[in-house]
Amino acid sequence: MYAEKQVVLGVSGGIAAYKAAALLRLLVRAGADVHVVMTQNAQEFITPLTFQTLSGNPVHTNLFNLIQEREIGHIGLADRADLVLIAPATANLIGKVASGLADDLLTTTIMATKAPVLFVPAMNTNMWENPVCQQNRAKLSDYGYHFMQPVHGELACGWQGQGKMPEPEDIFDCAQPLLGTQDLGGKTVLVTAGPTREELDPVRFLSNYSSGKMGYAVARAARNHGAKVILVSGPVHLTAPQNIETIRVQTANEMHAAVITHAKRADVVIKAAAVADYRPANRADLKTKKSQGPTSLNLVQNPDILDELGQNKQDLLLVGFAAETNDIRQNAKAKLTQKNLDLIVANDVSLDDAGFDVETNIVRFFSADGTIEDLPKMSKDEVAEALIKKLVTLMGQKPEGRSGR
Ligand code: PMT
Repeated sequence: MYAEKQVVLGVSGGIAAYKAAALLRLLVRAGADVHVVMTQNAQEFITPLTFQTLSGNPVHTNLFNLIQEREIGHIGLADRADLVLIAPATANLIGKVASGLADDLLTTTIMATKAPVLFVPAMNTNMWENPVCQQNRAKLSDYGYHFMQPVHGELACGWQGQGKMPEPEDIFDCAQPLLGTQDLGGKTVLVTAGPTREELDPVRFLSNYSSGKMGYAVARAARNHGAKVILVSGPVHLTAPQNIETIRVQTANEMHAAVITHAKRADVVIKAAAVADYRPANRADLKTKKSQGPTSLNLVQNPDILDELGQNKQDLLLVGFAAETNDIRQNAKAKLTQKNLDLIVANDVSLDDAGFDVETNIVRFFSADGTIEDLPKMSKDEVAEALIKKLVTLMGQKPEGRSGR
């Protein structure tokens, strides 16, 4: 999303200004051309040289610097921006923009731009909760400016409460949709991710190697295309993505209940989760001692969630994943037909750089219309982006009737 995009990173005067350096690094690594604009007060907390070194661009601090004006120009900066990100945004800065003041380079750039603007507030809890600040935020939101919520935690002033700037990774994640095409706008996409855990007793379970990375990437990509996303996640170590309704489950039965309930409000379901096909017939309430056995396990079958959706799908667009180690084409096509899917994404999980718990994947799309597409090795984010683009095409080919419920 960020590759070759022009991002203006506005830094106002709060202690969280130091975290803007980490955010800048993430943006630059993702391929963005970042121009930093600092207020006078921000320079009390961190030097322009830090941002200049990290961005590779001159840092803009002064509205009336004629040299900067000729080379860049504050209007030019505002004009060329694909995104304006204000992190941290102080109460003072939010108040000035809400009052229509443009008395320095940052407020002028915000007022002059037509690009999406995301404010990332950071301040003392009482300042954030002050009705004046809240009214300013609400006013700017009404005008179409975007806001992240400050997070709860220990603040630099020693207080506990809401006011901390979100982590740079979360800001990076949250701003992405503002750069993307909104071709899934008005659609609801339900994504499943991760493994399920089937307990034998309080300390043991049956599971698999799924990390959730593939499913979480799909959820983020759908959100970046403007969809409302519901993520049903098995037990993983990943943090819930920004602006995605995340429902945590443990077992296949819990995933079944969550998916069947929430699929009713979805236009698309994408099942990237690795669901256990079987669970122990009995779960012991207490830890089973070595001396007690068991030497063999009795298993019962779990519901096949995707199959159940497929048999009752009506106008739902249904996408499965197939984790295979052999006969990929044959097995994937069989699952596509048996489960009545529109698309199945097959991955050969015996390869080193594909499937479970790695950063990349190598997939093949099998569509219900018989077309097959082979994708090269890509990051899971890139696979997810390709999948969402494929879905947008498939939705365009389907008759109307599944617009946002
Ligand atoms: O999470 P990562 O570490 O990033 O790994 C990604 C992945 C390998 C888990 C992912 O790319 C993948 O292949 N997911 C599907 C794994 C799987 O369970 O495949 P399957 O061929 O066994 O199942 C086929 C489809 O039926 C899947 O969409 C699965 O979610 C669904 N299913 C299976 C069993 C069941 N009881 N209910 C289901 O809904």
